[in-house]
Amino acid sequence: MCGIVGAIAGRDVVPVLIDGLKRLEYRGYDSAGVAVLDGELKRVRRTGRVAEMEAAASAEGLAAGLGIGHTRWATHGGVTEANAHPHISEGELALVHNGIIENHEEQRERLKALGYGFSSQTDTEVVAHLVCHHLRETGDLLSATQRAVRELRGAYALAIIARSDPSRLVVARMGCPLLVGLGEGEAFVASDVSAVVAQTRRVVYLEEGDVAEVRRDGLAVFDATGAAVQRAEQVSGVSLASLELGPYRHFMQKEIHEQPRAIADTLEPILETGFSPALFGPRGSELLAGLTGVQILACGTSHYAGLVARYWIEALAGVPCAVDIASEYRYRPIVANPGTLVVTISQSGETLDTFEALKYAIAEGHHRTLSICNVAESAIPRLSAMQFLTRAGAEIGVASTKAFTTQLVALFALALVIAKARGRLTAEDEALHVEALRHLPGSVQHALNLEPQIAAWAERFAPKQHALFLGRGLHFPIALEGALKLKEISYIHAEAYAAGELKHGPLALVDREMPVVVIAPNDALLEKVKSNIHEVRARGGEMFVFADADSQFGEEEGVHVIRTPRHVGLLSPVVHAVPVQMLAYHTALARGTDVDKPRNLAKSVTVE
Ligand code: F6R
Repeated sequence: MCGIVGAIAGRDVVPVLIDGLKRLEYRGYDSAGVAVLDGELKRVRRTGRVAEMEAAASAEGLAAGLGIGHTRWATHGGVTEANAHPHISEGELALVHNGIIENHEEQRERLKALGYGFSSQTDTEVVAHLVCHHLRETGDLLSATQRAVRELRGAYALAIIARSDPSRLVVARMGCPLLVGLGEGEAFVASDVSAVVAQTRRVVYLEEGDVAEVRRDGLAVFDATGAAVQRAEQVSGVSLASLELGPYRHFMQKEIHEQPRAIADTLEPILETGFSPALFGPRGSELLAGLTGVQILACGTSHYAGLVARYWIEALAGVPCAVDIASEYRYRPIVANPGTLVVTISQSGETLDTFEALKYAIAEGHHRTLSICNVAESAIPRLSAMQFLTRAGAEIGVASTKAFTTQLVALFALALVIAKARGRLTAEDEALHVEALRHLPGSVQHALNLEPQIAAWAERFAPKQHALFLGRGLHFPIALEGALKLKEISYIHAEAYAAGELKHGPLALVDREMPVVVIAPNDALLEKVKSNIHEVRARGGEMFVFADADSQFGEEEGVHVIRTPRHVGLLSPVVHAVPVQMLAYHTALARGTDVDKPRNLAKSVTVE
């Protein structure tokens, strides 16, 4: 979704802005622009890729020591150059904005009455004119921004430069992330740390309601009441290597292969702390004591991680667990139970539906909240009483892969923490689980070694229009995940069913043209899955079965089998996620789609 970058330095900042925007490209966008102060405000905007905007900026010889840039994902107003950011008001200031202003209509009318003309359909231009209006009254960009934000309702991250003030950028945050990067005699702003780590690792995250001025030699932050405040400086741990492709063809491929490492890194604090509530922060013991239930909230792939977790939590910890799609939960009447732990799962920590669902749960009386997230300092963990950060590293490909498997690891640990707190984990079982977790990165590595066989299957999938995925029990969510991955990056229509549901409807779809993928590990449901397979074979459907090395599953006419590593018990969904990711990846590759940036999708879904 939208991305912000800004810089003030004793050197030309245009290359810094362009580099930052390129690093934000993965989030999804449809137009890009930069504005700089070079005596007067100069701006270049283009629909399409950052590279096109870069070429235009270079043709115009854009260069300056102060500037802002933006990648836009259209919400208010179509994908046009006029709607792209930065927006300039009266030649006085240039502004970029992430988020949505709810009262933009009423402010627009007011500003029109004050004589301001509008050249776009965006809510952002309203903010630019509003700040300009106050700038003319106060003569000071910081006070003007403070006044303007008091009149806005909605979510925003803003970065503003003014013609009259070459010595600073002014930024503001409410509901959308924004951080400041501190360099030597230079400073940067960005909506995502990946846009600045090539310049500096020293970062300061702004808090809700903050307005700040950013100068070459420092930063002054003011909270929502206007009082000067200090925000802690941190050293970002995001590695530049995680933002670069290296020897891989796509980020998705790279991230699939990073899973053994990502899982091992995520396991580190778990194996160090043990299955103790302290794993979730200082309030862990207090907030996990006497739990009577768990409510999981998430979207997309993260929701499927929640579906696996439900199985683990009920089986191991013996507490009821409900899993809701966040965008549904936030709009339905709920019965809050103070004994329930609300767990949000989000790779980005910014997904608006999940964030709003959490806010709703809190407003309705839930105070035991835990966020499982991959991005430190993002909105969802900040709002939660407890946090667990997965250590997947930056995930750039739009399709979530290593974030998913590391979420699973965190959720397995959660189930065991609750089980132990409830006295349901014997020392012997605990030791067995620790052992299984230690072997997990190795089992995932074995699954990765199946890539050549899966790539061969993908050739057969590539010409298809539809596919079915079947799984049972713990592996039904993996079937859902396989279908989601395939449709999102290869654009093949895919649906997943709990295999027992086949005869209740979807079997009617099965014919020679319908490939059917089956997740068939060697668990208690294997015999049931085998009968479901016969139902499909009898109708001429072609089966692609992922079976464990130790299961008795023979190839036969129309039944192809790939053997994943030895069955790993309850952790099996983590291992089985890998082949379905690779199947989607190689099918997309064979179809020539844009694997890392599939059409119509964004990495962080910060709009409803
Ligand atoms: C699919 C995918 C999405 C996300 C969903 C939630 O590959 O990545 O379905 O899982 O948009 O995103 P997060 O986890 O950032 O809240």
